[in-house]
Amino acid sequence: MKIAIVGSGYVGLVTGACFAEVGHEVVCIDNDDRKIKALRSGRIPIYEPGLEQLVQRNVSAHRLSFTGSIEEGVDSSPVIFIAVPTPPQADGSVDMTYIERVAREIASVLKEYRVIVDKSTVPVKTGEKVADTIRRYNKVNGEFDVVSNPEFLREGCAVADLMKPDRIVIGSNSERALAIMKRVYEPFMTPIMVTDVNSAELIKHAANSFLALKISYINALSAICEASGADVEKVADGIGADKRIGRSFLNAGLGYGGSCFPKDIAAFISISEQIGEPFHLLREVQRINQHQRERFLKKVRDTLWVLKEKRIAVWGLTFKPDTDDVRSSVAVDLVNDLIREGAHVTAYDPKGNQKVHEFNLCPGVHLASSALDAVRDAETLVLATEWPDFAAVDLAEVHRRMHTPIVFDGRNLFDPDTMRDLGFQYYRVGRPPTKANGSGLSNNDPVRIPIAMESRTTPVQDSSNRPVTKRPRYLAKASASKTSVDRS
Ligand code: UDX
Ligand code: UDX
Repeated sequence: MKIAIVGSGYVGLVTGACFAEVGHEVVCIDNDDRKIKALRSGRIPIYEPGLEQLVQRNVSAHRLSFTGSIEEGVDSSPVIFIAVPTPPQADGSVDMTYIERVAREIASVLKEYRVIVDKSTVPVKTGEKVADTIRRYNKVNGEFDVVSNPEFLREGCAVADLMKPDRIVIGSNSERALAIMKRVYEPFMTPIMVTDVNSAELIKHAANSFLALKISYINALSAICEASGADVEKVADGIGADKRIGRSFLNAGLGYGGSCFPKDIAAFISISEQIGEPFHLLREVQRINQHQRERFLKKVRDTLWVLKEKRIAVWGLTFKPDTDDVRSSVAVDLVNDLIREGAHVTAYDPKGNQKVHEFNLCPGVHLASSALDAVRDAETLVLATEWPDFAAVDLAEVHRRMHTPIVFDGRNLFDPDTMRDLGFQYYRVGRPPTKANGSGLSNNDPVRIPIAMESRTTPVQDSSNRPVTKRPRYLAKASASKTSVDRS
């Protein structure tokens, strides 16, 4: 089946490549000429595991092509997906400019029946507005239906999420459109949930808000754990074992970021207020998320006493591992917080350095070319993104390179026993801190910063002479590429 996708970014490109992979003939459209040029010459503008091979394979098989022309896509395809951005505005509401423009452009070239599918995350009732716009701008009275088909892709595993989805939601009141949508999704062999358009639109915002709520819940609990000497990971395991709750999205950390959760929660709050049913709970979700980073920063400040002129290494810049996406990244915010307080920050990310440099997201930061380079002579290491690459770094070498071996782990990546045995002073989120050669520190214990490097302990090593770290959740994925971006 022929399919057109308008917007070839994280969502549009992955969706297009996966549709091609199951046998459809897909044309990906974008109004960024440089992007289309790059894609045509085989360059993938984003990093998403598995995407490059998928695109190459399907381009070679002539099932995937790229164009800047919406008309070309509308002429050739019975179904047109819209996957352009819906960014937040200053007041939290959604900027619908791109969607509206694409709707007008489709209307201007639509001649015969087409299904227009909204893939972008949009406020409830957007489908109605897209339909009104197309009707208004289409001169030939062409037939069409507007369908809502929200995406549930997680960056970093978007290909797998699309190829094997938990569910497919299609919001439509038209049997004709539904028949076409079912042909699109038939090869994925996944249950399709059919709803009305408004419900499908709400499902997306409600799902993302609920996941963000789960994260804020565990982050609020992490503060209680720190104050009471409990361990948030054990608490999460304990409550997550209840099938009604589930363990996923209960990892305490620095808070959620990325191009979806922050903007979707803000948008949902704004929509709920507009329709006269303010969703107050979500404001608290937002507040906890913001507070979590502030609490972490306070811990760093309280421990180091003065941040001004401190040499701080930060591992991680992307909003999560396995992506190069630094949009609304908590790691980026944290780096900027530290720089604002006068610290000298050297940061490294396996895939994020380039975008931070390109968009000058952290003015004043020094970008290192490797994780080990970043910690040279550092007085503190902050782990901000839980890349599996960091779990595989030789921590004994990290210890040797650092000026003072203090680690603040914002994502609870490392094993506390290993860190203690290696001689680190090690602080985590929602879990008791550990200090070199000793028992757990209570939050009120004074922190002694080791000065003499000779006093460090011999690292624990495994049979391959590498220091032992354990992080079962990530070891399975620890093969991620170590490509780095050169210093800026
Ligand atoms: C998508 C969705 O569209 C958004 O609503 C959802 O919440 C998150 O995922 P994403 O794919 O992450 O956005 O955005 P991005 O990577 O920026 O890609 C969007 C693409 O659309 C870009 O390549 C941009 O050039 C293109 N675009 C934008 C158009 O082709 N036309 C436009 O008018 C605007
Ligand atoms: C999210 C949704 O999961 C996906 O279904 C939707 O289509 C788009 O938005 P994404 O933003 O790519 O996907 O990543 P996700 O894995 O959901 O992580 C979002 C943020 O939450 C990250 O900053 C991550 O670090 C954080 N997070 C996630 C936690 O802090 N703790 C967790 O337990 C899980």
